[in-house]
Amino acid sequence: MSELVLSGLTVQRGGRAVVKNVTITVPAGQVTALLGPNGAGKSSMVLAVGGVLRPRPGSVSMDGTELAGRRSEKIRAAGVAIVPEGRRLLPDLTVDDNIRVATYAMSRQAAAEGRARAFELFPSLRPRLNLPARSLSGGEQQMVVLAQALVSQPRYILIDELSLGLAPVVVNRLVPAIRSVSESGIGVLLIEQFATLALGLATSAYVMEGGVIRYSGTASELRDNPEMLHSAYLLRGSEPASRQAAAPPPGADLSPERRYCPERRYRRS
Ligand SMILES: Nc1ncnc2c1ncn2[C@@H]1O[C@H](COP(=O)(O)OP(=O)(O)O)[C@@H](O)[C@H]1O
Ligand SMILES: [Mg+2]
Repeated sequence: MSELVLSGLTVQRGGRAVVKNVTITVPAGQVTALLGPNGAGKSSMVLAVGGVLRPRPGSVSMDGTELAGRRSEKIRAAGVAIVPEGRRLLPDLTVDDNIRVATYAMSRQAAAEGRARAFELFPSLRPRLNLPARSLSGGEQQMVVLAQALVSQPRYILIDELSLGLAPVVVNRLVPAIRSVSESGIGVLLIEQFATLALGLATSAYVMEGGVIRYSGTASELRDNPEMLHSAYLLRGSEPASRQAAAPPPGADLSPERRYCPERRYRRS
């Protein structure tokens, strides 16, 4: 079966392990959700898969090919693209130029094919090509960010909080974009603050907290039992007391939506 398998992945940052022995399978043609509170280690894990950080130790196997420890350009060329948290467009460049920037390391032919493929997936970007990126809505801009990752024609894509700072109504417009990516056969790992959105798109789901996986199973099980999500977040038995002290006060609203999208983070769009 075609899948991207991260196994036994550990990532050190600032002299300590922030991702600990994590194993996640991302099947081709499906969305896999990765949820977890701030500081869980999700972004560090994405950077390690993309070759920006080095996993020590750990394996990243794409359809049977080992990629761990390779340079980021090699990993991208092999077929794994990452959309790092907080990636934004160059606002004064046109949409077209923003996408061209992402093809700089590719041959002319590969770049042309990759661009064509990205516009097949997101036809609504075509009429916007010559507009400056800043004139697009927040949702459209994030679609261009996705297109930048898709020009390399990846087999797997790891998307780290594409909707960060966007209002829920805007985020909903990204759902069809993510769905068309996975339906085209690409395996998607979706890290998302809006838990219900991610679980609505995903087949399988993982919850990470304190650098370890607290839950792995079907997305529907987690969707139907939101209390499982809460307890995964609150399972801090193995953490030092300093982290336990960071647990929310009794009576705090722990619904996934609340926990995940404090309004001050919204960006007008
Ligand atoms: N550049 C860095 N140097 C040292 N520690 C870092 C750095 N970036 C993040 N961390 C730490 O790594 C842990 C995991 O962070 P991160 O991967 O960003 O989690 P998440 O994406 O789940 O919010 C946190 O404790 C964070 O403070
Ligand atoms: Mg993060």
